[in-house]
Amino acid sequence: MSGWSSYNGQHDHTMSERTAHTALIALTLALALALVIVSAFVRHVNAGLGESFSSGPYGAIGTVEAPAQHAPEWAVGAHRILASTLGLTVIGLVGLAAWRGRPREWKALTALTVVTVGLAALGLRSATLHEPAVVVANAMGGVALVALAARLLYPRIAPGGMGFPSTPALRTGALLLLALLIGQTTLGFLVSANFAGLACPTPSGCARPWALWDHLALAWTALQVDAQGMALRTGALEGLHMAHRIIGLVTAAAAGMLAGLAWQHGLRIWSGVLIMAAGAALATGFLSVVFGLELQAVLGHYLLALAMVVWIIPLCLPVSAEYGHGT
Ligand code: HEM
Repeated sequence: MSGWSSYNGQHDHTMSERTAHTALIALTLALALALVIVSAFVRHVNAGLGESFSSGPYGAIGTVEAPAQHAPEWAVGAHRILASTLGLTVIGLVGLAAWRGRPREWKALTALTVVTVGLAALGLRSATLHEPAVVVANAMGGVALVALAARLLYPRIAPGGMGFPSTPALRTGALLLLALLIGQTTLGFLVSANFAGLACPTPSGCARPWALWDHLALAWTALQVDAQGMALRTGALEGLHMAHRIIGLVTAAAAGMLAGLAWQHGLRIWSGVLIMAAGAALATGFLSVVFGLELQAVLGHYLLALAMVVWIIPLCLPVSAEYGHGT
Protein backbone atom coordinates (compact mmCIF):
# COMPACT_ATOMS: atom_id res chain seq x y z
CA MET A 1 0.00 0.00 0.00
CA SER A 2 1.41 3.40 -0.88
CA GLY A 3 0.20 6.95 -0.41
CA TRP A 4 -2.38 7.97 2.16
CA SER A 5 -5.14 5.45 2.62
CA SER A 6 -8.50 6.25 4.07
CA TYR A 7 -11.02 3.99 5.73
CA ASN A 8 -14.05 5.42 7.45
CA GLY A 9 -12.22 8.72 7.72
CA GLN A 10 -9.19 7.11 9.44
CA HIS A 11 -5.77 7.46 7.79
CA ASP A 12 -3.24 4.68 8.12
CA HIS A 13 0.41 5.54 8.08
CA THR A 14 2.30 2.97 6.04
CA MET A 15 6.01 2.34 6.44
CA SER A 16 6.88 4.25 3.26
CA GLU A 17 4.71 7.20 4.29
CA ARG A 18 6.36 7.26 7.67
CA THR A 19 9.78 7.23 5.99
CA ALA A 20 8.76 10.09 3.69
CA HIS A 21 7.44 12.08 6.67
CA THR A 22 10.68 11.49 8.59
CA ALA A 23 12.70 12.47 5.51
CA LEU A 24 10.76 15.75 5.29
CA ILE A 25 11.57 16.50 8.94
CA ALA A 26 15.24 15.61 8.33
CA LEU A 27 15.27 17.94 5.31
CA THR A 28 13.74 20.70 7.45
CA LEU A 29 16.51 20.20 10.03
CA ALA A 30 19.23 20.24 7.35
CA LEU A 31 17.76 23.41 5.82
CA ALA A 32 17.48 25.09 9.24
CA LEU A 33 21.14 24.26 10.01
CA ALA A 34 22.33 25.55 6.63
CA LEU A 35 20.17 28.66 7.03
CA VAL A 36 21.54 29.64 10.46
CA ILE A 37 25.14 29.09 9.31
CA VAL A 38 24.72 31.21 6.16
CA SER A 39 22.77 33.77 8.16
CA ALA A 40 25.57 34.11 10.76
CA PHE A 41 28.12 34.39 7.96
CA VAL A 42 26.16 37.17 6.20
CA ARG A 43 25.60 39.04 9.48
CA HIS A 44 29.25 38.97 10.53
CA VAL A 45 30.61 39.86 7.10
CA ASN A 46 28.13 42.74 6.78
CA ALA A 47 29.36 43.93 10.18
CA GLY A 48 32.94 44.04 8.87
CA LEU A 49 34.40 40.64 9.88
CA GLY A 50 36.35 38.56 7.36
CA GLU A 51 39.26 40.24 5.61
CA SER A 52 38.60 38.84 2.16
CA PHE A 53 35.02 40.13 2.12
CA SER A 54 35.09 43.18 4.29
CA SER A 55 35.86 46.74 3.40
CA GLY A 56 35.71 48.07 6.93
CA PRO A 57 36.64 47.29 10.56
CA TYR A 58 34.32 45.27 12.82
CA GLY A 59 31.37 47.47 13.68
CA ALA A 60 31.31 49.29 10.33
CA ILE A 61 27.59 48.87 9.81
CA GLY A 62 26.83 51.99 7.75
CA THR A 63 23.81 54.11 8.40
CA VAL A 64 20.19 53.09 8.71
CA GLU A 65 19.54 54.63 5.30
CA ALA A 66 22.62 53.02 3.69
CA PRO A 67 23.55 49.90 5.68
CA ALA A 68 26.91 48.25 4.93
CA GLN A 69 26.39 45.16 2.75
CA HIS A 70 29.77 43.45 2.37
CA ALA A 71 28.49 39.87 2.16
CA PRO A 72 29.02 38.20 -1.23
CA GLU A 73 25.97 37.83 -3.46
CA TRP A 74 26.11 34.02 -3.42
CA ALA A 75 25.63 34.08 0.37
CA VAL A 76 22.73 36.52 0.22
CA GLY A 77 21.13 34.44 -2.57
CA ALA A 78 21.72 31.18 -0.69
CA HIS A 79 20.12 32.69 2.41
CA ARG A 80 17.02 33.65 0.42
CA ILE A 81 16.69 30.23 -1.24
CA LEU A 82 17.24 28.33 2.01
CA ALA A 83 14.68 30.45 3.87
CA SER A 84 12.05 30.02 1.13
CA THR A 85 12.61 26.26 0.85
CA LEU A 86 12.44 25.91 4.62
CA GLY A 87 9.12 27.79 4.59
CA LEU A 88 7.82 25.25 2.06
CA THR A 89 8.96 22.22 4.08
CA VAL A 90 7.28 23.63 7.19
CA ILE A 91 4.06 24.13 5.22
CA GLY A 92 4.44 20.52 4.03
CA LEU A 93 4.83 19.27 7.62
CA VAL A 94 1.79 21.21 8.79
CA GLY A 95 -0.19 19.83 5.84
CA LEU A 96 0.86 16.26 6.64
CA ALA A 97 0.00 16.67 10.30
CA ALA A 98 -3.40 18.13 9.46
CA TRP A 99 -4.10 15.29 7.03
CA ARG A 100 -2.96 12.51 9.30
CA GLY A 101 -3.70 14.00 12.67
CA ARG A 102 -0.68 13.37 14.90
CA PRO A 103 -1.52 15.01 18.20
CA ARG A 104 1.74 13.87 19.88
CA GLU A 105 3.73 16.24 17.67
CA TRP A 106 1.41 19.19 17.57
CA LYS A 107 3.15 21.33 20.19
CA ALA A 108 6.59 21.20 18.55
CA LEU A 109 5.08 21.64 15.10
CA THR A 110 3.01 24.65 16.18
CA ALA A 111 6.11 26.20 17.74
CA LEU A 112 8.11 25.51 14.55
CA THR A 113 5.39 27.19 12.47
CA VAL A 114 5.18 30.22 14.77
CA VAL A 115 8.98 30.65 14.75
CA THR A 116 9.14 30.32 10.94
CA VAL A 117 6.38 32.91 10.44
CA GLY A 118 7.97 35.17 13.07
CA LEU A 119 11.36 35.00 11.35
CA ALA A 120 9.77 35.80 7.98
CA ALA A 121 8.09 38.86 9.54
CA LEU A 122 11.34 39.87 11.27
CA GLY A 123 13.16 39.61 7.93
CA LEU A 124 11.40 42.83 6.89
CA ARG A 125 13.35 44.67 9.64
CA SER A 126 16.64 42.83 9.29
CA ALA A 127 18.26 44.76 6.44
CA THR A 128 20.42 46.73 8.90
CA LEU A 129 22.40 45.79 11.98
CA HIS A 130 21.40 48.89 13.91
CA GLU A 131 18.86 47.27 16.21
CA PRO A 132 20.41 44.73 18.63
CA ALA A 133 16.95 43.52 19.70
CA VAL A 134 16.14 42.57 16.09
CA VAL A 135 19.55 40.90 15.59
CA VAL A 136 19.17 38.85 18.79
CA ALA A 137 15.56 37.87 18.02
CA ASN A 138 16.58 36.80 14.52
CA ALA A 139 19.54 34.75 15.73
CA MET A 140 17.61 33.13 18.59
CA GLY A 141 14.80 32.36 16.13
CA GLY A 142 17.37 30.45 14.07
CA VAL A 143 18.51 28.46 17.10
CA ALA A 144 14.85 27.69 17.92
CA LEU A 145 14.24 26.46 14.35
CA VAL A 146 17.11 24.00 14.57
CA ALA A 147 16.16 22.86 18.07
CA LEU A 148 12.49 22.30 17.17
CA ALA A 149 13.32 20.41 13.97
CA ALA A 150 15.71 18.20 15.99
CA ARG A 151 12.98 17.75 18.61
CA LEU A 152 10.63 16.45 15.89
CA LEU A 153 13.24 14.17 14.37
CA TYR A 154 14.74 12.37 17.39
CA PRO A 155 11.74 10.24 18.41
CA ARG A 156 11.20 9.22 14.80
CA ILE A 157 14.70 7.99 14.13
CA ALA A 158 14.93 6.33 17.55
CA PRO A 159 11.42 5.68 18.91
CA GLY A 160 12.81 3.78 21.88
CA GLY A 161 14.57 6.87 23.19
CA MET A 162 17.89 6.24 21.38
CA GLY A 163 18.60 3.46 23.82
CA PHE A 164 19.14 5.98 26.61
CA PRO A 165 18.53 4.74 30.11
CA SER A 166 16.78 7.89 31.19
CA THR A 167 15.79 8.98 34.66
CA PRO A 168 13.91 12.04 35.89
CA ALA A 169 17.21 13.31 37.37
CA LEU A 170 18.94 13.18 33.98
CA ARG A 171 16.02 14.92 32.32
CA THR A 172 15.93 17.65 34.97
CA GLY A 173 19.68 18.18 34.56
CA ALA A 174 19.32 18.35 30.78
CA LEU A 175 16.45 20.88 31.04
CA LEU A 176 18.48 23.04 33.44
CA LEU A 177 21.47 23.00 31.10
CA LEU A 178 19.17 23.85 28.18
CA ALA A 179 17.83 26.87 30.10
CA LEU A 180 21.39 27.98 30.91
CA LEU A 181 22.45 27.52 27.29
CA ILE A 182 19.49 29.55 26.03
CA GLY A 183 20.42 32.40 28.42
CA GLN A 184 24.12 32.24 27.54
CA THR A 185 23.39 32.06 23.81
CA THR A 186 21.08 35.08 24.03
CA LEU A 187 23.84 36.93 25.90
CA GLY A 188 26.34 35.86 23.19
CA PHE A 189 24.15 37.28 20.45
CA LEU A 190 23.75 40.47 22.51
CA VAL A 191 27.56 40.72 22.75
CA SER A 192 27.77 40.25 19.00
CA ALA A 193 24.93 42.67 18.16
CA ASN A 194 26.59 45.41 20.28
CA PHE A 195 30.10 44.65 18.96
CA ALA A 196 31.24 44.06 22.52
CA GLY A 197 33.62 41.27 21.46
CA LEU A 198 36.56 43.65 21.26
CA ALA A 199 35.77 45.45 24.51
CA CYS A 200 38.01 43.13 26.57
CA PRO A 201 41.02 42.31 24.38
CA THR A 202 42.88 40.16 26.97
CA PRO A 203 41.84 36.69 28.11
CA SER A 204 42.21 37.66 31.76
CA GLY A 205 39.32 40.11 31.62
CA CYS A 206 38.89 43.82 31.77
CA ALA A 207 36.06 45.14 33.86
CA ARG A 208 33.51 44.67 36.50
CA PRO A 209 30.91 42.28 35.03
CA TRP A 210 28.29 43.67 37.38
CA ALA A 211 28.54 46.93 35.36
CA LEU A 212 26.30 45.04 32.95
CA TRP A 213 23.29 45.63 35.19
CA ASP A 214 23.67 49.41 34.87
CA HIS A 215 23.49 49.17 31.11
CA LEU A 216 21.54 46.03 30.28
CA ALA A 217 18.50 47.94 29.00
CA LEU A 218 20.82 50.08 26.86
CA ALA A 219 22.27 47.02 25.16
CA TRP A 220 18.88 46.36 23.54
CA THR A 221 18.36 49.85 22.14
CA ALA A 222 19.22 51.09 18.63
CA LEU A 223 22.95 51.64 18.02
CA GLN A 224 24.29 55.10 17.30
CA VAL A 225 26.87 55.40 14.51
CA ASP A 226 29.52 58.02 13.69
CA ALA A 227 29.82 59.86 10.38
CA GLN A 228 31.65 56.87 8.83
CA GLY A 229 28.89 54.45 9.85
CA MET A 230 30.92 52.89 12.68
CA ALA A 231 28.92 51.66 15.67
CA LEU A 232 29.67 53.88 18.67
CA ARG A 233 30.85 52.09 21.82
CA THR A 234 29.48 52.80 25.26
CA GLY A 235 30.50 51.78 28.80
CA ALA A 236 28.00 48.89 28.71
CA LEU A 237 30.22 46.79 26.48
CA GLU A 238 32.83 45.64 28.98
CA GLY A 239 30.23 44.48 31.48
CA LEU A 240 28.34 42.69 28.73
CA HIS A 241 31.44 40.90 27.52
CA MET A 242 32.63 39.91 31.01
CA ALA A 243 29.17 38.64 32.01
CA HIS A 244 29.19 36.44 28.89
CA ARG A 245 32.63 35.05 29.80
CA ILE A 246 31.70 34.28 33.39
CA ILE A 247 28.32 32.72 32.57
CA GLY A 248 30.16 30.79 29.83
CA LEU A 249 32.39 29.21 32.47
CA VAL A 250 29.33 28.42 34.61
CA THR A 251 27.58 26.88 31.57
CA ALA A 252 30.61 24.71 30.76
CA ALA A 253 30.80 23.58 34.41
CA ALA A 254 27.08 22.66 34.30
CA ALA A 255 27.70 20.72 31.07
CA GLY A 256 30.50 18.88 32.88
CA MET A 257 28.18 17.97 35.75
CA LEU A 258 25.47 16.68 33.40
CA ALA A 259 28.09 14.70 31.48
CA GLY A 260 29.24 13.16 34.77
CA LEU A 261 25.69 12.15 35.66
CA ALA A 262 25.06 10.74 32.19
CA TRP A 263 28.37 8.84 32.38
CA GLN A 264 27.13 7.11 35.55
CA HIS A 265 24.04 6.04 33.57
CA GLY A 266 26.25 4.43 30.95
CA LEU A 267 26.02 7.20 28.34
CA ARG A 268 29.77 7.27 27.84
CA ILE A 269 29.93 8.48 24.22
CA TRP A 270 27.17 11.02 24.77
CA SER A 271 29.00 12.41 27.82
CA GLY A 272 32.33 12.54 25.99
CA VAL A 273 30.82 14.48 23.09
CA LEU A 274 29.13 16.97 25.46
CA ILE A 275 32.39 17.58 27.35
CA MET A 276 34.30 18.09 24.11
CA ALA A 277 31.67 20.48 22.71
CA ALA A 278 31.64 22.53 25.93
CA GLY A 279 35.46 22.64 26.04
CA ALA A 280 35.64 23.63 22.39
CA ALA A 281 32.99 26.35 22.91
CA LEU A 282 35.14 27.83 25.69
CA ALA A 283 38.31 27.49 23.59
CA THR A 284 36.80 29.20 20.52
CA GLY A 285 35.41 31.95 22.78
CA PHE A 286 38.90 32.63 24.18
CA LEU A 287 40.49 32.27 20.74
CA SER A 288 37.99 34.78 19.33
CA VAL A 289 39.18 37.25 21.95
CA VAL A 290 42.91 36.49 21.62
CA PHE A 291 42.90 36.73 17.80
CA GLY A 292 40.80 39.88 17.69
CA LEU A 293 37.62 38.20 16.46
CA GLU A 294 38.55 36.10 13.42
CA LEU A 295 35.52 35.18 11.33
CA GLN A 296 36.32 31.43 11.50
CA ALA A 297 36.71 31.43 15.29
CA VAL A 298 33.48 33.37 15.81
CA LEU A 299 31.48 31.11 13.47
CA GLY A 300 33.02 28.02 15.09
CA HIS A 301 32.08 29.37 18.51
CA TYR A 302 28.48 29.82 17.38
CA LEU A 303 28.28 26.35 15.82
CA LEU A 304 29.53 24.73 19.01
CA ALA A 305 26.87 26.51 21.07
CA LEU A 306 24.28 25.27 18.57
CA ALA A 307 25.72 21.74 18.67
CA MET A 308 25.39 21.65 22.47
CA VAL A 309 21.71 22.63 22.25
CA VAL A 310 20.98 19.95 19.64
CA TRP A 311 22.99 17.33 21.54
CA ILE A 312 21.10 17.65 24.82
CA ILE A 313 17.59 17.71 23.31
CA PRO A 314 17.09 13.89 23.41
CA LEU A 315 17.63 13.96 27.17
CA CYS A 316 15.14 16.83 27.54
CA LEU A 317 12.28 14.76 26.09
CA PRO A 318 9.67 13.42 28.51
CA VAL A 319 10.62 10.16 30.18
CA SER A 320 8.10 7.48 29.27
CA ALA A 321 7.68 4.47 31.51
CA GLU A 322 7.78 2.15 28.54
CA TYR A 323 10.76 3.46 26.58
CA GLY A 324 12.91 5.79 28.56
CA HIS A 325 12.14 8.73 26.26
CA GLY A 326 8.79 9.27 24.61
CA THR A 327 7.63 11.84 22.07
C1 HEM B 1 29.62 27.38 26.93
C2 HEM B 1 29.94 28.62 26.91
C3 HEM B 1 29.59 29.60 25.81
C4 HEM B 1 28.55 29.60 24.92
C5 HEM B 1 27.43 28.58 24.80
C6 HEM B 1 28.70 30.77 24.09
C7 HEM B 1 27.84 31.14 23.07
C8 HEM B 1 27.98 32.25 22.27
C9 HEM B 1 27.12 32.62 21.18
C10 HEM B 1 25.90 31.82 20.72
C11 HEM B 1 27.57 33.77 20.65
C12 HEM B 1 27.00 34.54 19.46
C13 HEM B 1 27.77 34.17 18.21
C14 HEM B 1 27.29 34.90 17.00
O1 HEM B 1 26.87 36.04 17.08
O2 HEM B 1 27.32 34.31 15.90
C15 HEM B 1 28.74 34.16 21.39
C16 HEM B 1 29.50 35.27 21.14
C17 HEM B 1 30.71 35.52 21.73
N1 HEM B 1 31.31 34.79 22.71
FE1 HEM B 1 30.57 33.14 23.61
N2 HEM B 1 29.81 31.46 24.50
C18 HEM B 1 30.40 30.78 25.53
C19 HEM B 1 31.54 31.13 26.21
C20 HEM B 1 32.38 32.17 25.87
C21 HEM B 1 33.63 32.49 26.51
C22 HEM B 1 34.20 31.75 27.72
C23 HEM B 1 34.16 33.56 25.84
C24 HEM B 1 35.42 34.33 26.06
C25 HEM B 1 36.39 34.07 26.82
C26 HEM B 1 33.25 33.92 24.78
C27 HEM B 1 33.44 34.95 23.90
C28 HEM B 1 32.52 35.36 22.99
C29 HEM B 1 32.71 36.53 22.14
C30 HEM B 1 33.90 37.45 22.12
C31 HEM B 1 31.56 36.63 21.36
C32 HEM B 1 31.23 37.72 20.33
C33 HEM B 1 31.54 37.27 18.93
C34 HEM B 1 31.00 38.30 17.95
O3 HEM B 1 31.35 39.46 18.07
O4 HEM B 1 30.20 37.91 17.09
N3 HEM B 1 32.17 33.05 24.83
N4 HEM B 1 28.97 33.21 22.38
